[in-house]
Amino acid sequence: MGRVSAHVLWLCAVLAMVACFGVGAQAGRTQAGRTLLQSTCANPALPDVNLTAYAGVWYQIGATAVQKSFTETDAVCISGRYSLITSGPNNNAIRIRLDSYNTSSGDYSALIGLLNVNGRSFNLQFPGLPASDYRIIYLKGDPIKDRYKTAMTYSCTTGSTQAINILSRKPTLDGDTIAELVAYAQSLGITLEANNQIVLTPQDAITCGRNDD
Ligand SMILES: *[C@@H]1O[C@H](CO)[C@@H](O)[C@H](O)[C@H]1NC(C)=O
Ligand SMILES: *[C@@H]1O[C@H](CO)[C@@H](O)[C@H](O)[C@H]1NC(C)=O
Repeated sequence: MGRVSAHVLWLCAVLAMVACFGVGAQAGRTQAGRTLLQSTCANPALPDVNLTAYAGVWYQIGATAVQKSFTETDAVCISGRYSLITSGPNNNAIRIRLDSYNTSSGDYSALIGLLNVNGRSFNLQFPGLPASDYRIIYLKGDPIKDRYKTAMTYSCTTGSTQAINILSRKPTLDGDTIAELVAYAQSLGITLEANNQIVLTPQDAITCGRNDD
């Protein structure tokens, strides 16, 4: 692995809910072979998103295997804090702080990025990295009452791998099943390869330091 992709992997390691695949493709190509690289990406219809409601904390319930193995090795308790920016040069973008715990090294990581909004399409930018695709393809729950309960995001860049992230307001899924969400993605034209299925993210309350009942 070259210097650049090692650097990218290091940064990607804590990206958690994002697919850093525009650049991570290098690693995918080296280690996973070409079969996972998309020659074309799906073009799913995107729901309208109330950004105020979308802000707040999201737990990663699971994500596709390539993202998990290349950028989230041993990372558990992955969550993101989304803050809507309402003034200044980044007005209407969302600041994201991604947190995770590495069970192998014992390190906690926090990384701050910016989710840029361009109509219904988003892209996520971390310092020193090119922006990566981030599209919300599924939202469940009332934006006002629940500030949404469940979300699913899709990321794909032609020539790179595709990724799905399943997010919930709680450390567990609220009402949906993984199978239903994958079937929904399929109905939007997104077919996950056999070796890029959804892998669950451990969110155990004690491991994650959330056992505060
Ligand atoms: C977690 O720690 C192990 C051991 O230090 C390391 O190999 C791995 O890349 C780390 N994972 C992340 C996501 O940083
Ligand atoms: C968007 O969501 C916020 C927070 O729930 C809510 O206060 C606001 O009324 C919503 N806006 C619209 C247009 O529904």
